[in-house]
Amino acid sequence: MCGIVGIVGRQAVAPMIVEALKRLEYRGYDSAGIATIEHGHLDRRRAEGKLVNLEDRLRSRPLIGHTGIGHTRWATHGVPNESNAHPHFSDDRVAVVHNGIIENFRELRDELIADGFHFASQTDTEVIAHLVARGLRDGLAPKEAARAAISRLRGAFALAILFKDEENLLVGARNGPPLAIGHGDGENYLGSDAIALAPFTNTITYLEDGDWCALSHDGIDIYDVDGRPVERAMQKFIGSSLLVDKGNHRHFMLKEIYEQPEVISHTLANYVDFVAERALAREALPFDFAGLERIAISACGTAYLAGLVAKYWFERYARLPVDIDIASEFRYREMPMPKNGLALFISQSGETADTLASLRYCRAEGQHIGAVVNVRGSTIAREADIVFPTLAGPEIGVASTKAFTCQLSVLAALAVAAGRARGELSAEAEAGLVRALGEAPRFANQALKLEGQIEKIAHDLSKVRHVLYLGRDTSYPLAMEGALKLKEISYIHAEGYAAGELKHGPIALIDEDMPVVVVAPHDHIYEKTVSNMQEVAARGGRIILITDERGAAECSVNPEHLLVLPDMPEIIAPIVYALPVQLIAYHTAVIMGTDVDQPRNLAKSVTVE
Ligand code: G6P
Repeated sequence: MCGIVGIVGRQAVAPMIVEALKRLEYRGYDSAGIATIEHGHLDRRRAEGKLVNLEDRLRSRPLIGHTGIGHTRWATHGVPNESNAHPHFSDDRVAVVHNGIIENFRELRDELIADGFHFASQTDTEVIAHLVARGLRDGLAPKEAARAAISRLRGAFALAILFKDEENLLVGARNGPPLAIGHGDGENYLGSDAIALAPFTNTITYLEDGDWCALSHDGIDIYDVDGRPVERAMQKFIGSSLLVDKGNHRHFMLKEIYEQPEVISHTLANYVDFVAERALAREALPFDFAGLERIAISACGTAYLAGLVAKYWFERYARLPVDIDIASEFRYREMPMPKNGLALFISQSGETADTLASLRYCRAEGQHIGAVVNVRGSTIAREADIVFPTLAGPEIGVASTKAFTCQLSVLAALAVAAGRARGELSAEAEAGLVRALGEAPRFANQALKLEGQIEKIAHDLSKVRHVLYLGRDTSYPLAMEGALKLKEISYIHAEGYAAGELKHGPIALIDEDMPVVVVAPHDHIYEKTVSNMQEVAARGGRIILITDERGAAECSVNPEHLLVLPDMPEIIAPIVYALPVQLIAYHTAVIMGTDVDQPRNLAKSVTVE
């Protein structure tokens, strides 16, 4: 989940690499570094911490080479200090940047030490540099040395390699994490994703797993795992879809929260025909909902919670049972799968290693593979039989917001389509649900108006050490999402619980110091949630209730804070209630003074297990 960049250019490339790394910083920000080839020798600048530290270093000591590589790191092997920062050198002849994990690095390291190589870092990456250098020492040409080294590596990697004597050569390789080639005019580029390369080109070729490539000013050669030259398709990206800018907002996260009415609307329009009042009417599906016994959903983090909401929807509206799993558990669970079943994978990045591994397990089990992804051209998107894109646009804040509500929008449309296909929803019922979905952007907009009140709540929350979130039915995943958001960006401990489960343990935690955020639209189960709130109130717990007008009118407990949304159809409540839940976490984090967009220890795209 580090970010890598490489450029074979015609001018000093360090400023360009910095520009690209800025767009990759969401992947990791423990350290950063750049190396270029300068008059036949390799030079590098590295700095612990964020990219700004590297920029400071480059200001006082610029790099002038025309060919270079860069890296922004999310530490896996070795602490995040400068000596572990990439690029790593060997013999001052080879420089390497790497994203991923080399599983056999201990064995390779012992072998290389026995061969006289000296290790300057604790990273797994350094073995790659030494392996390539050993190939050169043994008389191999640079490309051959790179290929021989790559063939020794086990694990997940995306690499870029420079050779001191080859100013017109940049080698890249991919096995697992993504690597994109950018096509330029007299210069060519490598990057972890298309967004990184957007300032230079909108023409991209993604390497396939096992591919490696050699870039020069005027040429791009791609080889498969057996070293055979291969062609990979070029894709054009629309420039504006790659723009990454905070606008007037203080953080990307806030900008992305505010984009939600628009991106939800954009996403729904892709799946729902509001005139015919039908869901997924235009899509030719490679499977038939009517013939399915169950669906298996796997995902991680916030995407998993979107899947959990979808379980309620598929079971309610389509009477279609759903098995939902955290992908890191599913991939090793050896679940028997029905013949011709449907497996759905939800992922913002489309690169999450555990989700991808689950997809491949289901592929081997002969399942139809559907993917709800935000990044087009991502590995999960490419390996699926059918992709249901979320049209959220680039999500930069590490804590997912707009991707979540867009995932929910797609999944709601799928559940309604499944209901119709299975004869569980009449045309009239489908039309009613479609009309309800069409209201989501409007209600999301109204939810944003609660921000002033939410700031007051955030002041209270910033003073506590623990927060409990409760909800039932589709609000239960929302409670978990609220707790996850608060934990990840404010570092306050929070738990999301099914409100009915409170009495089986967490109720012991309730006292006057424990705020309890209750997500409770006035739905078919509202009265039950109110009973659970009574249990909290009776023990002095401080309730923050997020509900609607009817819920507020019928609530028999006196919450410390009350957030009132308009009454709305039940199906859209999880989409709309996500916004106040996100804003609570956001404002609490701002008051706590944490790094909202890049919280500690996290990364946006998790391409390691
Ligand atoms: C990371 C991110 C989360 C995200 C999860 C799954 O942990 O910080 O925000 O929900 O990965 O990522 P995906 O890209 O598969 O949705």
